[in-house]
Amino acid sequence: MKATVLYYSHKGKTAGYAREIAMFLWSQGVSVSLCAITEFDPSRLAGSDLLITGCWTCGWFVVGQHPHERWVEASRRLAGILPAERTLLFTTYRIRTGCLFSRMKKVLGINSSSPVHCLKSKTGRLTDADKLQLQLFVGMQKKKL
Ligand SMILES: Cc1cc2nc3c(=O)[nH]c(=O)nc-3n(C[C@H](O)[C@H](O)[C@H](O)COP(=O)(O)O)c2cc1C
Repeated sequence: MKATVLYYSHKGKTAGYAREIAMFLWSQGVSVSLCAITEFDPSRLAGSDLLITGCWTCGWFVVGQHPHERWVEASRRLAGILPAERTLLFTTYRIRTGCLFSRMKKVLGINSSSPVHCLKSKTGRLTDADKLQLQLFVGMQKKKL
């Protein structure tokens, strides 16, 4: 199974979280490609089974949360390549993520009613709960392939 992990980070917390996600998947036997989303060539996604993509939470801290414009621009080119069930979204944040994930889904062309796995972190460190969710996500897709 091949996974592509993409991130957009400003100060490094989201990049660190993406690295931990990639390392954990690798430890589970997944072949992982990790890349800053702004440097990713969308044609490479066709050879991947899973898309794991994230960015830091922008907004006014208490309202108006949205993905950063650079993530949005880069992600528009990825819309529709992989189905929603093979996509996992993640973010790092300080106070609240608000409607960030629903906005990310919209950019990726995912229907608002389609369930998508999401991970969020204040610290940028992968917790045991995050690891369980990643195992569930990978396990569900392995069964289907
Ligand atoms: C301009 C700006 C707006 C932010 N808005 C929010 C917000 O609305 N909600 C929140 O929880 N954190 C907000 N944050 C905090 C960042 O999402 C958080 O620090 C994130 O982990 C930074 O990731 P990075 O180190 O990868 O850049 C904001 C940070 C900045 C600089």
